Amino acid sequence: MHARAAAALTTALLGTAALLLPATDVRAVEDGTPPTVIAHRGGSAHAPENTLAAVDKAARLGAVWVENDVQRTKDGELVVLHDDSLQRTTDVEQVFPGRAPWKVKDFTAAEIARLDAGSWFGAAYAGARVPTLEQYVHRVDLHHQKLLLELKNPELYPGIERETLKLLANEGWLDRKHRGRLVVQSFSAASLRTVHDLEPAVRTGFLGTPSLADLHTYASFTDQINPSYTTVSTAYVSAVHAFTGPHGKPLEVSTWTVNTAEAARRVAGYGVDGIITDKPDVVRDALSG
Ligand code: G3P
Ligand code: CA
Repeated sequence: MHARAAAALTTALLGTAALLLPATDVRAVEDGTPPTVIAHRGGSAHAPENTLAAVDKAARLGAVWVENDVQRTKDGELVVLHDDSLQRTTDVEQVFPGRAPWKVKDFTAAEIARLDAGSWFGAAYAGARVPTLEQYVHRVDLHHQKLLLELKNPELYPGIERETLKLLANEGWLDRKHRGRLVVQSFSAASLRTVHDLEPAVRTGFLGTPSLADLHTYASFTDQINPSYTTVSTAYVSAVHAFTGPHGKPLEVSTWTVNTAEAARRVAGYGVDGIITDKPDVVRDALSG
């Protein structure tokens, strides 16, 4: 039996008794497997977020999973950046002073390629670039890592779901050998429905904390419910696990953004499947300790 299925069955058998156990005991009762550690924006405490340098650093820290944020340029290139503006994480104000508010969608890929996306973080990273999604998946592949790809602000970029899937297909990320190495997540349920409809084999994750009454709807198109760690509890995680997702497995929970050992141990005790963190080293050490 799949570990998560066993966990769900155990939870069902234990019923409310499981909810009365101390949080740390509940996970041990479930299956004893520590949550997967996912380097948020590539591990943004250690390197400039969403850059190839961050992917490299995550690999050096032993992070198998990296999370990123995908948006689209004026001329249709998919790039990896968190904010809808280039202002916070690049030198765009100096390079293009007359172009406020410096939205990603208003710059071409060639213009964005000129920007320094590393100096704001530290001199050691001067010259780091905003990667294209193509460059990014190549680097993730190079390190044999796995990718939690977020479609960021998809409402700003009509058609980004199809374009992202096309790029992933072209780069081999929808092939059998990449199965289990990709999850597409978003705060937009509509975007995830589109991804699921276009490529039903691709696993998806909804960012948020849907009400228990709505979980059955999400289970028709998403494999994961990924809430802020401030909103989760043992009861919520158990309730999510009780649903079967579109690929016939219990829904999973990856929670964000957990940056302390104490919080990591606490959410692990809730029974989460994944922990998304800026500090993969801290979380890994907390869980192994
Ligand atoms: O993966 C969860 C997290 O990335 C969602 O929040 O704003 O960092 O993209 P944000
Ligand atoms: Ca993100």
